[in-house]
Amino acid sequence: MASDLENHAAFSALAHVIHSFEEDTLHFYLNGSRVDIANPNPNWTLLDFIRSQHGLKGTKLGCGEGGCGACTVVLQTVDARQNGRIKHLSVNACLFPLVGVIGKHVITVEGLGNVEHPHPLQERIAKLHGSQCGFCTPGIVMSLYAVIRNAYDPVMGVFSLSDHEVEMNGHLDGNLCRCTGYKPILQAARTFITEDLKGRLAAGPLMKDAKISIDEQELRSFPYSSESRSDEIPIVKSNGSCGRPGGCCRDRQKLETLTTTNNGSPGTESSLETSCDGRGLFSSTPSSRGSTTSDGENIATEESKIPIAGATYARPVKSRESNLAGAEGIKAQTSLDALPPEHGDGVPQFSFSPYVPQTELVFPPRLRKLPKSAVCYGDSKKIWLRPINLQQLLDIKQAFPSAKLVGGASEVQVEVRFKNAPFAVSVYVSDVQELQTIHLPEKEEELQSMTDFVIGANAPLTEVESACKVLYAKLGPRASVLEAARKQLRYFAGRQIRNVASLAGNVATASPISDMNPVLMAAGATVTAQSKQAGVFRLPISTFFVAYRTTSLPEDAVITSISIPIPSSGAREVLKAYKQAKRKDDDIAIVTAAFRVRLDSRGFVEDTCLAYGGMAPMTVCAKETMRAICGKQWQDSRTLDEALRSLQKEFDLRFGVPGGMATYRKTLSLSLFFRFWHEVVVDLKLGHVDTNLITEIHRSISSGTRDNFNPHEQRVVGKQIPHLSALKQNTGEAEYVDDIPHQERELYGALVMSKKAHAKILGVDWRPAFDAGAVGYVDKHSIPKAANVWGSIVKDEPFFAEEEVLCHGQPIGMVYAETSLKAQAAARAVHVDYDDLPVILTIDEAIEAKSFFKHGKELKKGSALNDSMDEAFKCCDRIFEGTTRIGGQEHFYLETNAALVIPSKEDGSMEVWSSTQNTMETQEFVAQVTGVPSNRINARVKRMGGAFGGKESRSVQIACILAIAAKKERRPMRCMLNRDEDMMTTGQRHPVQVRWKVGTTSDGRLIALDADVYNNAGYSQDMSGAVMDRCCTHLENCYEIPHVHIRGHVCKTNTHSNTAFRGFGGPQGMFAAESYMTAVAEGLNIPIDELRTKNLYKEGDLTPFLQKIDEDWHIPMLIEQTRKESAYNERLANVEDFNAQNKWKKRGIAMIPTKFGLSFATAVHLNQAGASVKIYADGSILLHHGGTEMGQGLHTKMVQVAAQELGVPADAIYVQDTTSYQVANASPTAASSGSDLNGMAVKNACDQLNERLKPYREKYGYSAPMKTIAHGAYLDRVNLTANGYWKMPKIGYQWGNYDVKTVKPMYYYFTQGVAVSEVELDLLTGDHTVLRTDIKMDVGRSINPAIDYGQIEGAFVQGQGLYTMEETLWDRNGLLATRGPGTYKIPGFSDIPQEFNVSFLQGVPWNHLRSIQSSKGIGEPPLFLGASVFFALRSALVSARKDNNLQEYLALDSPATAERLRLAVGDNLLKLGTVMPEKGEKNFFIAVA
Ligand SMILES: Cc1cc2nc3c(=O)[nH]c(=O)nc-3n(C[C@H](O)[C@H](O)[C@H](O)COP(=O)(O)OP(=O)(O)OC[C@H]3O[C@@H](n4cnc5c(N)ncnc54)[C@H](O)[C@@H]3O)c2cc1C
Ligand code: FES
Ligand code: FES
Repeated sequence: MASDLENHAAFSALAHVIHSFEEDTLHFYLNGSRVDIANPNPNWTLLDFIRSQHGLKGTKLGCGEGGCGACTVVLQTVDARQNGRIKHLSVNACLFPLVGVIGKHVITVEGLGNVEHPHPLQERIAKLHGSQCGFCTPGIVMSLYAVIRNAYDPVMGVFSLSDHEVEMNGHLDGNLCRCTGYKPILQAARTFITEDLKGRLAAGPLMKDAKISIDEQELRSFPYSSESRSDEIPIVKSNGSCGRPGGCCRDRQKLETLTTTNNGSPGTESSLETSCDGRGLFSSTPSSRGSTTSDGENIATEESKIPIAGATYARPVKSRESNLAGAEGIKAQTSLDALPPEHGDGVPQFSFSPYVPQTELVFPPRLRKLPKSAVCYGDSKKIWLRPINLQQLLDIKQAFPSAKLVGGASEVQVEVRFKNAPFAVSVYVSDVQELQTIHLPEKEEELQSMTDFVIGANAPLTEVESACKVLYAKLGPRASVLEAARKQLRYFAGRQIRNVASLAGNVATASPISDMNPVLMAAGATVTAQSKQAGVFRLPISTFFVAYRTTSLPEDAVITSISIPIPSSGAREVLKAYKQAKRKDDDIAIVTAAFRVRLDSRGFVEDTCLAYGGMAPMTVCAKETMRAICGKQWQDSRTLDEALRSLQKEFDLRFGVPGGMATYRKTLSLSLFFRFWHEVVVDLKLGHVDTNLITEIHRSISSGTRDNFNPHEQRVVGKQIPHLSALKQNTGEAEYVDDIPHQERELYGALVMSKKAHAKILGVDWRPAFDAGAVGYVDKHSIPKAANVWGSIVKDEPFFAEEEVLCHGQPIGMVYAETSLKAQAAARAVHVDYDDLPVILTIDEAIEAKSFFKHGKELKKGSALNDSMDEAFKCCDRIFEGTTRIGGQEHFYLETNAALVIPSKEDGSMEVWSSTQNTMETQEFVAQVTGVPSNRINARVKRMGGAFGGKESRSVQIACILAIAAKKERRPMRCMLNRDEDMMTTGQRHPVQVRWKVGTTSDGRLIALDADVYNNAGYSQDMSGAVMDRCCTHLENCYEIPHVHIRGHVCKTNTHSNTAFRGFGGPQGMFAAESYMTAVAEGLNIPIDELRTKNLYKEGDLTPFLQKIDEDWHIPMLIEQTRKESAYNERLANVEDFNAQNKWKKRGIAMIPTKFGLSFATAVHLNQAGASVKIYADGSILLHHGGTEMGQGLHTKMVQVAAQELGVPADAIYVQDTTSYQVANASPTAASSGSDLNGMAVKNACDQLNERLKPYREKYGYSAPMKTIAHGAYLDRVNLTANGYWKMPKIGYQWGNYDVKTVKPMYYYFTQGVAVSEVELDLLTGDHTVLRTDIKMDVGRSINPAIDYGQIEGAFVQGQGLYTMEETLWDRNGLLATRGPGTYKIPGFSDIPQEFNVSFLQGVPWNHLRSIQSSKGIGEPPLFLGASVFFALRSALVSARKDNNLQEYLALDSPATAERLRLAVGDNLLKLGTVMPEKGEKNFFIAVA
């Protein structure tokens, strides 16, 4: 036992218990190696431990709160319930307590495969383009891996798996990806099942009708079955099987002797067990066993003598003495990380390693023999106890009642991480056998007489869910409570949490928005608890919750089980549960409810319970309403009316109720009951009801196409080469900033951030930080005042707050310490005194206070040029005015901002690794704060885990602050911001408000547009002015308006400083355009599509910034092609039919065009790029360019360009990183111009080299390999290094120049596209699903279609999130309320369009396109097309409002959240639920647009 433990305050109280705990060592396995850690750091989660190990950086930290899945690992363990069968649990390592791994086998992404020998699943996701930035990828791989491993049935020797199971049963609901739009990941999983598992899948109905049969399979295989049916799969007996798919020697009861061997593993005393039949644990090389193919894609091919891959290199020859024969010798051979598909008959054939299940990691036999022992470890501050039986647990609680019980830790760890709860004594209870039992009757008679379902307190929720499903299937409708519980559990958190979290944890937390508590309450459940003092006692759930997060459970007691009553057969009882959240999957409820009613034989209410979450500070029953309807006849509509009126009174929410959404919550409380009433009518056969009133929105399995036709394909350019790092990303080998190995003497930084939105700093006491473990502290005093300022365009922001803080989260200082945990604890200890100042948060408040940054830019066209807009409006038949608001958007790149600064001992130079899109600004500002010239600072980026504009400027701040500390300490400094820190400090997409006035003719010709555009810049300017410029220049989208006057205003507020985000103001501007177009169409009663077509630009028209639309204007063609291909007209008619027939569900369809201008519009100097290409004497080529890789595949495209130009295989070229020492003055990788600018610079360098190599090509022949040519040139002393450079011609718009003849174009060209989306909306809840989306983009001649499809799908889904789901909210004190995946929802796997088709415009010549390979920038343009979902939803609403006789125009702000949608329906329930503010009363949260 560690001696430090004895200094713990609780030690003496616990000493007698601890005394009997034998172990302070955690014994487990990690990727096949044995690990024994004695007395580990008691603050460590599993993730902390894993990431502390060398070579195990594949498991990522994305949020630290269980909301993103980046940290997913698999726990391989024995399933006691399944008689010793091996199960695989995906878990969130960021929450999982390290103590929980005892006796388990932890598998991380590194345990599956590596780049040389990837697991077939990793290979598939890589080759089928399922990984862009790759930060989410290991987590997704692990979630899928768990599904696959669990699908194996060791007795039958087959896999029971279907794409339906993967997609529809919540296996991926705990994983987020911000880049891909999920479609290719699902495609990879699907082909793994259909191709890799081919021949190994369970036959029969299972695969024929996935939906039904999977359920059946689950029921059949669930181990609790009491009766043995003849067709039942036999229960696996405890046989010590290692769980190897494909057959363990013990699966069929053959016991063989186990052997073990040792294998060293870094940092651990470890051993590699062999499998039980003596073969190694690790995979043999699957790739050596042939391959399988996936041929779902279709592109044309072109033969060439130079292969696309397969470069060879010559030996280095340094003198004339060596002859050229030497050059033929092969020194080394590389290959692309993921080779491109081979082609046969125009169809690319992907080659995949076959799946060899026998090579999977097995459960180490030694773990089976590990004795189960009680464990205790810790230090003077924190003790961990792991009892193994209830007695031990009760002893602990008696000795130290406040000891914190920890089950799945999904609440506890969140409290530790975000509320800094110390939990000085923590007790891991999930290994206490007595708390795990789920009692199911064995015999038929028992089943029939069953009165209670008893669930072990800490049984994992996934098992509770399965048990409910099995039991409900057996008991039928009388057990509707179990079906209700199953339904709640299906949408409870993410799979990784459900795999470990418990019912006791849910109940004991007593959260007012718990999903299970209403079910338990409605069912009349009982909590059974036990303590040493009181023995076993029962607490009815009805009195269990006593106040907000407070229960009646005595402090020294342990919940042992929860009993749910099951009504007797024949009872006319129905129990249903409902949950409404911002997102269907993995989200906490806004309102959650469970209702039970029992009717007598005449249909009168005998008993009822209406339990609600989200309507009060704790789970409550609507007691008045229950009383009111008792004794009433259920199917009598007056009962319904009375219940609704009573509920309306009973839930008398104030407008400013904590949590906000008063009207929505109240309306939901009514709507959910309304649905229940109807469901009961149906279930108890009391009458007929409209079925779409009682069915919730359900999506089906997704499908979709990419057209995969690229007639412009060349030897390398135009090929669908997978992202060059995809395999590294899939195997966890790809390195991000925080994965760079620990540096000697490295320190870790943690920001001290303002806790006020606007205040004077009276004093900062940083001394307590040193008591908490800080090594040092830096703030404004650490640098000269003149150096403490930065900004991309205008230098107006201090690195460290000076006298005032201007935003919640603004950095005041930084503490650094030996570890991140210490640094964060120390930063929390810093005390700051403030004096509050007035706070401005919203655009309206800024306008009122005239709080603006200097901007003053305007666009004028037509009458505006001579200030006679009034005249223009006078000529209009109709004038429409309105205000359009669109909220901000968090980037939610999976990798938060991070930097590592390594100071050199010499000359003040520093290496700055930063997760940045902008090496130049990083270099310049680090030079500024460290007082050296730029040439001493090497800013480097390997890759980013997503960026989307969020790392264009804001990344500079953390890099510079670290540099200040690194200079001071002369030690390396690292920091990766926590998710909440990142969201609070680094800014978001700008919220925008547009006040517009549009004049038209009566037949719908646009005549005049006058608009004031406001964006919420936050507390500093950053790039807000430029964002405003782009917003204004996209305010007409694709429509010609003769007279335009647009004025931009940049509002100064006390929110974080908003910044670039994919689209850079364009999506906000175009949203306003489509909003006023909608207003005009409805005002004039013209179909919106007709209005759009009528006003589309034509060649030769002028934009409001006086740029001529050239002949590459393809929007009309795109609209027509999309209309046809998506069957738009027919579907529009179908939607109208559907809406005419359905009252409670409405559909909508919308076709939206986009034109997006390419170039750094008004920062003309940024439209330049450099590249450096070096050909080594062996023929290998090193490429550097100024662009950074953030997942968008820029390096892949640049390699393709260089390979094409130099006539070499693509794998002859290597891009290591982006570094300011190789390319000076690189523009940020932004504005979708990465390929345009850098591609041309690369080409320019290649042109120079080709010129120099010309004589050698002539000498050795044009098909001679580069190794021969380069070698010959080297020997002749030819310079084989070239610096390429390019600046964009033609552009150079000058604001204020209104002379059509002299004004230069703002944009180099326009990327154009059209999307059609169709949606279905549930009017009772505001939930929706996207039924289908078709996108067609004009991408020019794509350099890499696979990457471009990926950009389109990913951008669309991001846009869909922007316009429908992602809502940023502040509290009244200016604290960002939505600052993590728990509160800020981005689209998940099940939000993408059910059918998702993407195609490219074909058959046009692009005469005016002068870009690299005639391709077009694609990163940003498709994002706006996500608005097609918004406008489809709006049109569904319009239909609903018509039904409700609402005539007035619907001004719908973005995002169209479920709340906004529900509140716009205008039905009677809404009227009942509407909550009006009292005088001066304000909403709890603030939206700042
Ligand atoms: C990302 C995320 C999503 C979530 N989504 C949902 C959701 O959709 N719906 C929902 O309702 N909740 C949700 N939660 C909350 C949480 O997952 C649940 O409350 C879960 O049931 C907690 O179980 P646990 O075993 O992890 O509890 P723990 O965190 O281990 O413990 C929670 C509390 O229960 C106590 N406790 C545990 N076991 C016992 C016992 N045997 N006796 C007495 N006290 C005990 C602990 O001391 C602690 O106070 C979510 C949480 C996260 C982090
Ligand atoms: S890092 Fe663990 S879920 Fe996000
Ligand atoms: S690839 Fe999924 S987050 Fe980037």
